[in-house]
Amino acid sequence: MTTPEFAAVILAAGQGTRMKSSLPKVLHPVLGLPMYAHVVQAVLDAGVGRAVVVVGHGREAVESDVQARFDARIVCAPQERQLGTGDAVRAGLAPLGSFDGWVLVLCGDTPLVHAGLVRSLMEAAQASSGPLAMLTGEVADPTGYGRIVRDAGGNVLRLREHKDASPEERANREVNPGVYAIRAGFLREALSRLSTDNAQGELYLTDVVEQASTQGVRALSWPFADTQGINDRAQLAQCESTLRLRVATDLARSGVTVRDPATTYVELSVKVAPDAILEPNVHLRGTTSIAAGAHIETGCVLNDVEVASGAHLKPYTVAARSIIGPRAETGPFAHVRPESVLEEDAKIGNFVEIKKTRLGKGSKASHLSYLGDGEIGADVNIGAGTIFCNYDGVNKNTTVLEDGAFIGSDSQLIAPVRVGKGAYVATGTTVTMDVPDDALALSRTKQANKQGYARRLRGRFAALKEDRNK
Ligand code: UD1
Ligand code: CA
Repeated sequence: MTTPEFAAVILAAGQGTRMKSSLPKVLHPVLGLPMYAHVVQAVLDAGVGRAVVVVGHGREAVESDVQARFDARIVCAPQERQLGTGDAVRAGLAPLGSFDGWVLVLCGDTPLVHAGLVRSLMEAAQASSGPLAMLTGEVADPTGYGRIVRDAGGNVLRLREHKDASPEERANREVNPGVYAIRAGFLREALSRLSTDNAQGELYLTDVVEQASTQGVRALSWPFADTQGINDRAQLAQCESTLRLRVATDLARSGVTVRDPATTYVELSVKVAPDAILEPNVHLRGTTSIAAGAHIETGCVLNDVEVASGAHLKPYTVAARSIIGPRAETGPFAHVRPESVLEEDAKIGNFVEIKKTRLGKGSKASHLSYLGDGEIGADVNIGAGTIFCNYDGVNKNTTVLEDGAFIGSDSQLIAPVRVGKGAYVATGTTVTMDVPDDALALSRTKQANKQGYARRLRGRFAALKEDRNK
């Protein structure tokens, strides 16, 4: 449900010099999602109807990411020169036209902001008679942050930027996290009254607070960790591990066994059902979903993979854009490439690569095989070292193995080719023609044994070695 009286402005025009990066700061991913996108997602999840991302440094890159990732509810507004946060908000108001509800202001570099926090601020705003509600936070070291200045009665009077603060003001550890809800009409007027008469010569958004204080500022104290900003890559790493832990802990609370939350990498877009098991060092990304009772062992890396109930992914299964069916088994060391489907009870074992192939119900390829562009029926047994020769240098060709076929070890199937129902391909066969149902395909040269020949060979090799060592 969206709340039409709220819109958001997300500030993301700053340079982020301390990241030492060619990528604009707000595009650095945190658990798979650019940091600004976490903030956008939080406001959308909180029910905010529209949001403006203020862009400046790296403008084209940020704009195209916004367009690719979000729908028309999210627009960008350029800030031509970075004259301060007040100027940035002014730029962000432009696309909102004559909107007269509440404007939420957040920063694009605070990816730990979540919908619950945004909703609490929205409720604080709605309960307030004044024009401004904001979060405040306590930090151990407030250096660099704006400080909250209150009167004797505890009412917020104004904010004081670190660079403008007196030594006494600097001792205050209650700081401004930079998250506000401000009535649009009041905000427009207040912004027009800002001046650059301060230590940084900038238009400070924070000066709006003093203007609101005569009518009452609603301050909501909030754990500062949720609003931690990212300025350098040390903070990036720290925020990412905080978020990772938050996701893993939420999963554990919902009934998923998470063996080691600190090394469980689950992106926010992933769904894991209760009663699944995630072993240490598992990476689940994109649209991956894990059903109840699935067991994902250590080292598995899954991108956009659907794992059905009771499936067992043994260590180091790497899979993308595929479906692993009920009670199917993979690995250890299996590679499931895009557009593959393992139907129920199917199995691929160690060092098996499967690509764009359907492996039917109960079928197995247990060792060292390549199955590419295949259509494999039910109860097919594929022996060790089987290769689907799918590529002739120009086209990718299909190999069809019908129900109950048996493929002996070390066979090559030169596609396009079909092995009929219940047919038997003898070990070491190079299959070049279709095999009829229930037929035996055999292509080997006859074996010859030469009596005593091995001993003679060894003698000859020993003599050669002696010659060389002289
Ligand atoms: C700001 C606050 C400070 C608060 C701190 C929280 C002001 C004046 N100060 O300080 O009280 O404690 O955030 O982190 O607001 N930005 C633009 N255009 C600009 C300037 C900034 O888009 O012209 C963006 C930046 O990209 C960033 C955000 O606004 O996302 C905050 O700017 P930053 O320079 O980091 O503000 P601080 O000086 O840290
Ligand atoms: Ca600044």
